[in-house]
Amino acid sequence: MTEVAPDEIQADETDPDREEDVAAASGGAIADQESSLEDAIPDEDATAEAPLDDERADPDSGVAPDEYAGSTPAPLEDSTVTQEEESPIAQHDGATLAQDEDDSPIARELADLSARRRALEEAEVQLTGRTRVFTVSNQKGGVGKTTTTVNLAAALAERGAKVLVIDLDPQGNASTALGVPHTADTPSVYDVLIDEFPLADIIQVSPESPNLLCAPSTIHLAGAEIELVSQVAREHRLRVAVDDYLAANAGELDFILIDCPPSLGLLTINAFTAASELLIPIQCEYYALEGLSQLLGTVRMIQKHLNPRLQLSTIMLTMYDGRTRLAQQVADEVRAHFPTEVLDTIIPRSVRVSEAPSFGQSVLAYDGQSAGAIAYREAAVEMIRRDSASNERGA
Ligand SMILES: Nc1ncnc2c1ncn2[C@@H]1O[C@H](COP(=O)(O)OP(=O)(O)OP(=O)(O)O)[C@@H](O)[C@H]1O
Ligand SMILES: [Mg+2]
Repeated sequence: MTEVAPDEIQADETDPDREEDVAAASGGAIADQESSLEDAIPDEDATAEAPLDDERADPDSGVAPDEYAGSTPAPLEDSTVTQEEESPIAQHDGATLAQDEDDSPIARELADLSARRRALEEAEVQLTGRTRVFTVSNQKGGVGKTTTTVNLAAALAERGAKVLVIDLDPQGNASTALGVPHTADTPSVYDVLIDEFPLADIIQVSPESPNLLCAPSTIHLAGAEIELVSQVAREHRLRVAVDDYLAANAGELDFILIDCPPSLGLLTINAFTAASELLIPIQCEYYALEGLSQLLGTVRMIQKHLNPRLQLSTIMLTMYDGRTRLAQQVADEVRAHFPTEVLDTIIPRSVRVSEAPSFGQSVLAYDGQSAGAIAYREAAVEMIRRDSASNERGA
């Protein structure tokens, strides 16, 4: 059980930037927990600012609350002292307060996050040595396709996998999040699809990891949807480029993740044709399943006419807000429909996840101890393990 100094929690709640996190963390089982996690794993800054001495602020110090609950509180030097901290209860009834905090949702979630972090440290995974090509698709906009692609890729790369992200969305969000230049004059997926550039000529290495590669998108890709219409083998152009790359670089890549635009046009069809696995991110909100039948209908059509290898292998529930019963209902409903495809890991709605791209980083690089980063690491481990298991079964 992770111990948390009660004053530390109060001090954190006074930070207006953390309000959302704290509210989420105190509301549900898998809510956004970054602020609580930051308490659990103090970084240098947090430790410097903490009103309490290091030993008491350190959750890993093994100091039980009872050991300090009755002692005289340390002088509070922090200017962000709250009303509660100055109250007689905070000053004189430390034992009661410590007990309350220990039983609070935030304390339980701290303990949960610490346990998950330890489990991840101990988890061992075995890559199979073959390249899995995923298209990350959902024609609904803003459901977390790009966020899933980028963070999953970063988490897989952290596990030692070599990962290529192909940014097939003219918005270029995946390229941005991976810190890869994608100005108009950058060689991009457009040149691959329209001018038959080899994929190797446009691939860049993300500053985040030598294991993380990106085939960037540029604004020119916006015109490719129309330009492709008149091209020979218009639905297969990405597949040909990927196959050529894999043939020339055999054994190099463990994963290719293709980030699709929010439509079922020719760009997305190129992704469906190039991939062997479909990963659908589903936002745990109302309307989540709406449009899914259309997507699955398209997939059946692709399987029949263009790519019989394509399988819906993975569904990832994302932007889960544990404060709402609706999120739980959506998650249950999706699991009922797709019991084998849905990952056990659920990605929480998390401020840190949404902030990371504006720094050109995945959430793992931006705040590696946050709940979002932990969830994406768990998802990566789960995906690698699933593949090893099906490989052993000879699938
Ligand atoms: N787990 C999360 N917690 C909080 N915000 C999130 C999370 N996942 C995604 N978001 C935010 O939701 C918005 C939409 O996410 P994202 O861009 O990944 O969706 P998308 O499906 O790729 O969108 P589009 O259809 O426009 O390509 C973004 O602002 C992103 O930062
Ligand atoms: Mg996107």
